[in-house]
Amino acid sequence: MARSVHVLLLLQALASLALPEQVAYPDEDGGWALDRYSPAQEEERCTVERVDASITYSQFIQQYAYSRPVILQGITDNVEFRSLCSKKRLLQEFGDRQVRLSTANTYSYEKVDVPFWEYVDQLLKPQDLNSLGCDTLYFFGDNNFTEWGSLFEKYMPPPFRIPGTSGAYSFGIAGSGTGVPFHWHGPGFSEVIYGRKRWFLYPPEQTPKFNPNGTTLSWLLETYPYLPEAARPVECTIRPGEVLYFPDRWWHATLNLDTSVFISTFLG
Ligand SMILES: *[C@@H]1O[C@H](CO)[C@@H](O)[C@H](O)[C@H]1NC(C)=O
Ligand SMILES: *[C@@H]1O[C@H](CO)[C@@H](O)[C@H](O)[C@H]1NC(C)=O
Repeated sequence: MARSVHVLLLLQALASLALPEQVAYPDEDGGWALDRYSPAQEEERCTVERVDASITYSQFIQQYAYSRPVILQGITDNVEFRSLCSKKRLLQEFGDRQVRLSTANTYSYEKVDVPFWEYVDQLLKPQDLNSLGCDTLYFFGDNNFTEWGSLFEKYMPPPFRIPGTSGAYSFGIAGSGTGVPFHWHGPGFSEVIYGRKRWFLYPPEQTPKFNPNGTTLSWLLETYPYLPEAARPVECTIRPGEVLYFPDRWWHATLNLDTSVFISTFLG
């Protein structure tokens, strides 16, 4: 009897070694859900594969790195980083720092600098359905790593690197219904710290039909519903505790379903 209990405990210990328990993120919004209004719905349909933290580096390289997107669940533990990203903590630490905003269109050219508090207070709001991507200001990337370094050093990035690349962070906060319309670049990871982010992806050889000055939301409402089956994107919604990987040159568009805090690791 006692012996079988020991064997059981040993097996459990081994199992927990092989498969780290997924980090449970408290179900709170860090003060960011300024509004509950979300102009877009979560879609249950998910056509991106999801794998748990038992995936090995060689499986990642062989099965996904060069060929298709994947969602890695529970692969990072960012509980501490998340607490530093609450609205109150970020405003305390960085409220008076200038942040550089970009327009949310495909070929974002305009940049605007504002104090971080002003972005949060005045500009961080749900996407207006009638405005163009080029009229929507978005805080993502262009981060001053000197000023924000103390925060970024607390971020635990996904543990996988593609040989010959190194990672660069892009951090952002944006309102519900906002997002970046279709574009492509090198491979990388995207993790949401607060809020849900819906992803739409196409392989490099399948250029999607979209207006580069429109918003992801207008594409979702005006184009997406009428796509024939063969023209539908690969898609899924990620939540805190999940990291989406996109391979090199894959087209992608994002849509923040909630007011969201997020960070990407671009591999270049
Ligand atoms: C980043 O912040 C530092 C410290 O405030 C400042 O000296 C530097 O000019 C900033 N860099 C950029 C590219 O804005
Ligand atoms: C997008 O907007 C830019 C700048 O206003 C304009 O030059 C360009 O022609 C527009 N592109 C399309 C496809 O509407």
